[in-house]
Amino acid sequence: MWLLVSIESLSQVVPNRPLCYSLFVPAPAISRSDRLAALKPTAVNAILAEMRAFQAQGGDLVSLMRGEPDLPTPPHIVEACTRALRDGRTGYPDNRGEKTFREAVARKLQRDNQLDFDPATEVLATSGSTFGIYAALTALLNEGDEVLLPDPVYDAYQSPIRLAGGRVKPVTARIEQGRFVITDEALEAAWSPAARVLILNTPWNPVGTVLTRGELIGIARFCERRNLIMLSDEIYEAITYGDCLHVSPLAIAPQLRDRCVLINSLSKTYSMTGWRVGYCAGPAPLIQAMFLVLAQSSRGPATFVQDAAAEALSGSQDCVASMREEYARRRQQVLSSLSGVRVLSPEGGFFAMVDVRDSGIPSDEIRRRLMHDHGVAVVHGAAYGAAGEGTLRVSFASGGATLARGLERLRAGLAQILGSSR
Ligand SMILES: Cc1ncc(COP(=O)(O)O)c(C=O)c1O
Repeated sequence: MWLLVSIESLSQVVPNRPLCYSLFVPAPAISRSDRLAALKPTAVNAILAEMRAFQAQGGDLVSLMRGEPDLPTPPHIVEACTRALRDGRTGYPDNRGEKTFREAVARKLQRDNQLDFDPATEVLATSGSTFGIYAALTALLNEGDEVLLPDPVYDAYQSPIRLAGGRVKPVTARIEQGRFVITDEALEAAWSPAARVLILNTPWNPVGTVLTRGELIGIARFCERRNLIMLSDEIYEAITYGDCLHVSPLAIAPQLRDRCVLINSLSKTYSMTGWRVGYCAGPAPLIQAMFLVLAQSSRGPATFVQDAAAEALSGSQDCVASMREEYARRRQQVLSSLSGVRVLSPEGGFFAMVDVRDSGIPSDEIRRRLMHDHGVAVVHGAAYGAAGEGTLRVSFASGGATLARGLERLRAGLAQILGSSR
């Protein structure tokens, strides 16, 4: 294989020659790790690439696709960060997490989740929950171990499972009375002697279910019965609607204490997606194992970011309440705008699932037609697992004109696509 190399600097050496010089050199043979075969881009990233190609050809597009809050990080958190920077808090962090941050996490878990964790040994600061998930899976899995994963679910769980040598075992959820549920039968059907971990996400991306106490008790009993570790991703805990309040599985099933890692982050609760800060809490030996993974890779969030995150968790929570009200308004806007189609009312999170099963058209095809013919981007439910087929995920993480225009296009597009399928 040959590589075309351009030497632009030569045009400066020879100023009257505006063209750069090119020459061919043999390319080094780059052999990639076999492990890379396990990785695949998330649905959002794949659709983003498709959107860019569409826009590059002049396509006009509104995105109701990403789970990225458009609200700014609250000013008192930004101020805490700049204060930390001014105070010279720019050195290496304690890799386990700065003491002030770990203590703030422990107080938060006690205040909001009624959980007691020792900040010295049972809490780990991570670069978002993404790293918490990665560290937990890497610390836990051996080659061929199975990880039970609700289907449909946030698709970015898949690659780190495979990268750690694990195998994904879908737990097929189904729609009952307008919400996705996980039954005991589905859990048992997915289980095999190779199963080691169950990942749970409540409030549940993409489907919007907030698991009830009764449901959580059933799932906790299953984990105990089958000797599974539970990874509980609670990143949407603050975004719930009406009577559907988030309950941490550990709070109602203390018997999980030795077999559960709580994973959370400040990304959604405080609109801090770009800060890359989160935390895990769990039994000391498991947190220690995750720490070993972290110490060989990210080494934790920046020191001044952890100071700001400690302020976010410890300071006034009014910003969280007003954010929740804003998402509740947007949720209502989605439900009103799409009143002509079947939508699963979200109990939590900032996604609504449109139920297009009756059309018989694959969700990916509807998504493509919505993008190319109607200028609106959503995610097809099948991207989150086979049980998501027949649904579309609509994000209201962005509001204002984006949401209004996007919903208008979506309403018109669905009317045409679904109308013609009847
Ligand atoms: C369910 C779920 N878990 C984890 C993440 C990753 O979040 P972060 O790494 O920003 O904390 C996301 C992001 O969209 C998510 O939806």
